[in-house]
Amino acid sequence: MADTDNTGPLRIGILSTANIGRHFIAGVKPSDKVKVVAVASRDLASAQAFADRHAIPRALGSYDALLADPEVEAIYNPLPNSMHAEWTIRALEAGKHVLCEKPIAVTAADARAMFAAAHSAGRCLVEAFPYRAQPQTHAVAELVHSGEIGLPKIIQAAFGFPVANPSNIRLDPGLGGGALLDAGTYPVSLIRLLAGVKPIRVSAMATWTESGVDATLIANIEFPGGLLAQAACSFGTGVYRRATIACEGGVVMTEYLNHLTAAAPGVVDISRGGWDATNETRRFEPLDGFRAEADSFADLVRGDPAGWTGIGEAESIEVMEMLEAIIASAAAHGAPVEL
Ligand SMILES: NC(=O)c1ccc[n+]([C@@H]2O[C@H](COP(=O)([O-])OP(=O)(O)OC[C@H]3O[C@@H](n4cnc5c(N)ncnc54)[C@H](OP(=O)(O)O)[C@@H]3O)[C@@H](O)[C@H]2O)c1
Repeated sequence: MADTDNTGPLRIGILSTANIGRHFIAGVKPSDKVKVVAVASRDLASAQAFADRHAIPRALGSYDALLADPEVEAIYNPLPNSMHAEWTIRALEAGKHVLCEKPIAVTAADARAMFAAAHSAGRCLVEAFPYRAQPQTHAVAELVHSGEIGLPKIIQAAFGFPVANPSNIRLDPGLGGGALLDAGTYPVSLIRLLAGVKPIRVSAMATWTESGVDATLIANIEFPGGLLAQAACSFGTGVYRRATIACEGGVVMTEYLNHLTAAAPGVVDISRGGWDATNETRRFEPLDGFRAEADSFADLVRGDPAGWTGIGEAESIEVMEMLEAIIASAAAHGAPVEL
C-alpha cells in the first residue's frame, strides 16, 4: 500500500543504477529528511543487485515502473545527459518531483520544456549541483555580490579530470557526452552565479576526441558592465578544480568543491587591497554535497521555497543557453556567439 505520509522523509526513487547514484545514496544515508525507497534499471537483475548492495527496499525492472510506483514521491535522475529531458518530463507528468543531474538537459529548448512540464504538473524540478548546496559557495557568492571588494573584473574557473575508459558515457556524442556538458557545467554555472547576469557573447576553442566530443575546452565569456570570464574544462588532466575571482578591491580563490571532507576541507582565500593587500583564509566544515542538496530539495518539496539553496529555474536555463552557445562557438573554431 502506498505510504501517503507526506510529512516524513521525502521518499526518493533513483532512475537507473548509475555510478553517481552510489555516492548519492551514501551521502544521503544519515539524512532524516530524505529516504531512498526504490531503484529502477533497464534490467531487473541489475536493479535488484544494486538494491541489495545499498539496502534499498524495492528494485524495479523498468524506468516506467518507477514512475508508476505510488510510494515514490520524488525522482533522482542520473541518466546519461541526453536522457535527462525525456525522463524528467515523464516523471513530472507522473506526478513526481524531480532532482535532475547536471546538465539539466543538452539544449536550452529542452530545459525550457522541462520547467514548463514542472509548472503544468505543479511539481518541483531542480538541477543537482552539490557545490551549490555548500555554505562555502554561498559565502563566496555573498562576498562578491555584496560589493565589499568591488566589482568582479576577471573570473577564471576550471574543472578537469582524466577519463580513460572508451565506453564511458562522457565520450559518447549520442548520450550528450563531452567535457563541457560534464566537467564544464561547474565552471560555467559558477561564473554565471558570480556574474549575477546573463552574458552578452561567448567564444570558445576545443580539442576533440575521436568519438567526436570535446575533450578539452576553453571559453571566453563577456558580460555587461565590463566583466570578462574564462571557463576551462578537460577530460585529459589530473584532477584540477579552481576558481579565481579578481575584483577591483581584492581577489578571491576557491576550489568550489562538491563535497568537503576533513582531508579535503573547504578553503576560501581572500585578499583585500592592492599591493599592500591583507590576506584572510576562511575554512568551512566538512559537508557531503549530496546530503546538503537532497535536504534542501526535501525542504522545497515540503513547502519551503527558501529551503532550496541551489540553482533556480531561470539560471538553469541561462546556463544551458551558455553551454549551447559555447559548444557552437568551439565547433566554429572560436567564432563569437551572441546570447
Ligand atoms: N553531481 C555530480 O557530482 C555528478 C557526478 C557524476 C555524474 N553526474 C551526472 O550523473 C549522470 C550519470 O553519470 P554517471 O557517471 O553516474 O553515469 P553511468 O555510471 O554511466 O550511469 C548511467 C546509467 O544510465 C542508465 N542508462 C540508460 N540508458 C543508457 C545508455 N544508452 N547507455 C548507458 N547507460 C544508460 C544505466 O542504468 P541502468 O543500466 O540501470 O538502466 C547507467 O547505469 C550524468 O548526467 C552526469 O553528468 C553528476
